[in-house]
Amino acid sequence: MSDTARPATASGTFTIGGDLTVHRLGYGAMQITGPGVWGEPADRDEAVRVLRRAVELGVDLIDTADSYGPFVSEDLIAEALYPYPEGLVIATKGGLTRPGPHRWLPVGRPEYLRQCVEMSLRRLRLERIDLYQLHRIDPKVPLEEQLGVLRELRDEGKIRHIGLSEVTVEEIRAAREHVEVASVQNLYNLTERKSQDVLEYCESEKIGFIPWFPLATGELAKPGGVLAEASARHDASPAQLALAWLLHRSPVMLPIPGTSKVAHLEDNVAAATISLTGEEVSELTELA
Ligand SMILES: NC(=O)c1ccc[n+]([C@@H]2O[C@H](COP(=O)([O-])OP(=O)(O)OC[C@H]3O[C@@H](n4cnc5c(N)ncnc54)[C@H](OP(=O)(O)O)[C@@H]3O)[C@@H](O)[C@H]2O)c1
Repeated sequence: MSDTARPATASGTFTIGGDLTVHRLGYGAMQITGPGVWGEPADRDEAVRVLRRAVELGVDLIDTADSYGPFVSEDLIAEALYPYPEGLVIATKGGLTRPGPHRWLPVGRPEYLRQCVEMSLRRLRLERIDLYQLHRIDPKVPLEEQLGVLRELRDEGKIRHIGLSEVTVEEIRAAREHVEVASVQNLYNLTERKSQDVLEYCESEKIGFIPWFPLATGELAKPGGVLAEASARHDASPAQLALAWLLHRSPVMLPIPGTSKVAHLEDNVAAATISLTGEEVSELTELA
């Protein structure tokens, strides 16, 4: 297939942890679950089509977590894509339990994290997880215990690289006393940039930065939103502009827009082909 048929390849590459090269525009698999990220998606067949189409479009970084569903997202990924095409990186996470829809509770006890990894390996039908992210640091458990067990699992060959999620620069520095940190996943988009300092730190340290809610949970994709006028001028959808802005923001930026629909996936992935001048990036930056 030509690269026009695989638009995600136009987003350029980033090498996670020094040896895992992916195209920068990925896919986030949280939306292929039920309401409140709980249970089965409304349209299971469409969820399977979304995953397969993502790979066809050149996406080779899929983000998920055991807690999405829980388990539904990981199960669907294996159902849709196993045996996996060469080079597909599935980044999963553990350490958040689910007492119910919309509810998330960190549990970072090492014996629990070990079980999380073992069960993700089984569900995803993998022998090793390329990128395993601690979904949240559990404040009740010493950091060295949470990271210590992930280091052991890496040494045992069950994890290739370790990532963190929703952390401060100080927390990343503290974590790096115990393990190499290959990626950081924090809330970041055009209208929410509290993690700007974390992004800058990641850029200086060549750590992959995975912005979650890249479309502000869809707000930035809506017609009539902050990007409406600019999108008409650029002949691009608002979602595409929001994603193109992220891609231009930093070479370590790895956006993972989420969707449950093939049409939205295609719209989002095409963002990789949009080039913005420095001036256009600044103009979008000023918008929000
Ligand atoms: N580390 C963490 O704590 C954390 C937290 C949240 C999320 N995440 C990760 O980040 C990923 C992205 O976050 P997200 O999926 O919640 O939010 P998002 O990517 O900002 O937005 C997803 C929402 O936008 C809609 N949408 C997507 N593309 C669209 C388009 N082209 N046009 C119109 N609407 C569109 C989707 O609805 P449709 O389904 O109808 O397309 C969905 O409601 C998740 O999938 C997950 O992997 C991580």
